[in-house]
Formats: sequence, structure tokens, C-alpha cells
Amino acid sequence: MSHGPSASAGAIIRSGHHDDAPYEPVFVGEAKVRLDELVKRYPRKVGALLPALWMVQEARGWVSEAGMAEVAAQLDVTPAYVKGVVTFYTMYNQHPVGKYLIQVCTTTPCHVCGAEDVVRAFLDQTGCGELGVTSEDGRYTVIEVECLGACGFATPVMVNSDFLESVSADRVADVLGRYR
Ligand code: FES
Repeated sequence: MSHGPSASAGAIIRSGHHDDAPYEPVFVGEAKVRLDELVKRYPRKVGALLPALWMVQEARGWVSEAGMAEVAAQLDVTPAYVKGVVTFYTMYNQHPVGKYLIQVCTTTPCHVCGAEDVVRAFLDQTGCGELGVTSEDGRYTVIEVECLGACGFATPVMVNSDFLESVSADRVADVLGRYR
């Protein structure tokens, strides 16, 4: 996924998932080798913080407190420092999300071109019902984000790392057909 949306995506996501399973470390085996390679590129270990967090999110779909603690231990910083970074960047999910995280731009230019209808169509057709709620089948979470930088192609939508332009409400079923 990418990651430029400026809405507080992580802050509004709610889900029926729970974070009560024992934490399985991400940085073992090949992932640990990758992290060690990354760390070598920076003068200080903490330089690898953003990609390390990204690795956690790729592995788990979101960055839990335990994930932050693991990153902190790997990079010799405090969990509080890591949390400060995670909560600053909206590209990090602070709560579990569905298999497909659908981000719809609803900033003014897209809003006037019908972005709210696009959001409504996604909410209805995914079964999410509400923004930030993961569908019962665990597949989808829909959130609104601010300008995705494609204002001339309203309404832009991101599905995980895929960037889709000119999505209208009547194209939503077609889009969802690609993400089952
Ligand atoms: S306002 Fe929607 S992409 Fe810029």
C-alpha cells in the first residue's frame, strides 16, 4: 500500500478482531535477515524504523502494541518512540483491518464529484455498513481519506496497494469483483 493518504485512518478503524492471541514475533528467519540488511543502510539502527514497521504491517495487516515493542527492541529505541511514529503516519494501521483495506478520497474536489456515493456503495456492497468497521467475513474495511493526489480522476480509491482512478458508485460492484 502506499501511502500518502492524510486522514487519520488508523484512528477510526474499528473491528471485531481482537488482539488477545499470543504475539508471534515477526523478525525471525528470513524477516530478521531482511531487517538486518535494512539496518546496515543507515548510520543508526533507528533509521530503519519506517521500513521495519512496514514489515510488521505486511506480515500482520496492522501494527499492534506488541509489534511496536518488537520493533523497538530490534532497533534499540523505546516502545513510546515507536508509538509516536506509528501514530503520526496514517499509513500504519493501528487496528486490525480486513483482507482488503479500501480507502476512498472524500476531500472537496472528489466530494463534489460524488465520492460520498462511492463510499456508500462500498459500505453497502461489502457488508461493512459503517466506516472503519470490518465486514463479518473479514474481507473488507472501508475508510475515507483525504486527497490522494488524483483530483482530476475522481473518485480515486486505494485497495491495499492498488490505486484505482475514476471510480463511480456504479463501478463499485466491478471493483469488488476483483477483490474476493
Ligand atoms: S481531492 Fe480527491 S484526489 Fe485530490
